[in-house]
Amino acid sequence: MGNNLLKGKRGIIFGALDENSIAWKTAEKVFDEGGKFVLTNAPIAMRMGKINELAKKCKAEIIPADATSVEDLENLVSKSVEILGGKLDFILHSIGMSPNVRKGRDYGDLNYEWMHKSLDVSGISFHKVMQVAEKQDALSEWGSIIALSYIAAQRTYPGYSDMAQAKALLESIARSYGSRLGSMKNIRVNTISQSPTVTTAGSGVGGFDVFIDFAEKMSPLGNATAEDCANYIIVMFSDYTRKVTMQNLMHDGGFSTSGITDALVESLTPKE
Ligand code: NAI
Repeated sequence: MGNNLLKGKRGIIFGALDENSIAWKTAEKVFDEGGKFVLTNAPIAMRMGKINELAKKCKAEIIPADATSVEDLENLVSKSVEILGGKLDFILHSIGMSPNVRKGRDYGDLNYEWMHKSLDVSGISFHKVMQVAEKQDALSEWGSIIALSYIAAQRTYPGYSDMAQAKALLESIARSYGSRLGSMKNIRVNTISQSPTVTTAGSGVGGFDVFIDFAEKMSPLGNATAEDCANYIIVMFSDYTRKVTMQNLMHDGGFSTSGITDALVESLTPKE
């Protein structure tokens, strides 16, 4: 049971693939908090059919949309406003995909067509979502828009490949569009930079098991889980964060400001 933090609010949640997805956990919590929403994902991701379980549980409708297609997004946004009976108070962009990462291409041998795809799916799509919503005048005053990022936007993680550039682009779009929508309609736009999390997208990154363990030891509070992330998103969608905007919000158990931790010292100290 929630606390009605999102009672009466309407929105769109992108990216619930299966029960491990950050968007899946978020949808469950938004529902518990009294929010109404439309679920969406790329048409091919829906073939698994899993999203239907979530939709049933959350009494939500599903509208397929490839987030790189402006036409799909136009259909998604206009239908959502119709179905939900009003303008949107929140949007969660929980989308990431790199063909280069997926196919294990070396960073010195990137396929540039695939790199464009990574940037489009994981970065530019965030701009497309907001531009479509703005043009349709589909956003409510004091709304909140969130996308999910990763610290590889600021620091290098070799296995993250061109997704690092995609996340840097995503965070930059949040600032630029946040400035625009803030002055226009008091709408806030932020990215949440999440700990490594065991999901389909996360597990596709080379060396993931090692750096999830490293991050766990390097974070005084331990890695933030998908459920922790969903809780943070609820707060960001609620009216308690109305003046937080154009930020990349670190949600990482303290990882990003740790030099070293006792747990790492212990694990790196040679055993006698
Ligand atoms: P996930 O694999 O469950 O979700 C990624 C989603 O992106 C999937 O639902 C997929 O269908 C969707 N997607 C891919 N291409 C699309 C397209 N063209 N149009 C619409 N949707 C598309 O994995 P997860 O971890 O929940 O990912 C959500 C977000 O969190 C992503 O932005 C990811 O980069 C970010 N993130 C994940 C971390 C992790 O370690 N898992 C860490 C930090 C950020």
